[in-house]
Amino acid sequence: MNALEWDERYRSADHLWSVTPNLFIADRLGTVSPGRGLDLAAGEGRNSIWLASLGWEMTAVDFSEVAVSRGAAHSDGVDFIVADIRDWEPEGVFDLVLMAYLHLVPPDFEKLLGRARNWLAPGGELFLIGHDVSNVTDGCGGPQDPEVTWDVPDVVGWLSGMSIIESEVVRRPVETEHATGFARDALIRARALPVPG
Ligand SMILES: C[S@@+](CC[C@H](N)C(=O)[O-])C[C@H]1O[C@@H](n2cnc3c(N)ncnc32)[C@H](O)[C@@H]1O
Repeated sequence: MNALEWDERYRSADHLWSVTPNLFIADRLGTVSPGRGLDLAAGEGRNSIWLASLGWEMTAVDFSEVAVSRGAAHSDGVDFIVADIRDWEPEGVFDLVLMAYLHLVPPDFEKLLGRARNWLAPGGELFLIGHDVSNVTDGCGGPQDPEVTWDVPDVVGWLSGMSIIESEVVRRPVETEHATGFARDALIRARALPVPG
C-alpha cells in the first residue's frame, strides 16, 4: 500500500490500532533505561507515545500524513515526521530503533534493516515485531500475502554481525469485530556490538 492508500485506511476509523502499546514492546522495553529512540512506520504513534511517557526521547516516522497528524495531536513529547522510510535518513544515532508491523517487499525490508542497524549507538537495540509468515495459514488478521510477512530465520540472517537477544514466533491474542483468536508474530531483538577497544 502506498501513503495515500494508508491515509484512506486511517481515515476509515477514529483509531486504526489500539491506543495502548503493543504487548511485546510493553513487556520487553518497559524496564529498559530510557534513551534516544526511533520508531519507523510509527502509525498513530501508540508505541512512541508510551515510550516517551517512560522518559524516552522519541522520533516517530511514518509516510501517512493522517496517521502522523493524529499522533502529533495526542503527544507533544514525540517528534513526529512524515517521510517514506525507504529513503529517509535520521540525524545522529539512537539507543533503540523500533519497527512494528511494517511489511515491505523483502528487498526493501532487507535494505532498510541494513540502514537501520547503522543508526544504532554501540550497544543500542533493534526491536522488530511483525506478522510472521505462519500467520497467513495458522494465525489471525494481518496481511494475507506471504511475500510481505516476516520469516524469523531470514530476518536474523539479514542481521549478521549483531548480537541477537531474542528471535522467536510469539502468539498475540486478537479480539476485533472481524476476528478473535491468536496472531502469530515474528519477534526479533538485536543489539549493535560495542566498538572494540
Ligand atoms: C500496520 S501499521 C503499524 C503502525 C505502528 N507501527 C503500530 O504498530 O501501531 C503500518 C504502518 O507502516 C506505514 N508505512 C508503510 N510503508 C511505509 C514507508 N515506506 N514509509 C513510512 N511508513 C510506512 C503505514 O503508513 C502504517 O502506518
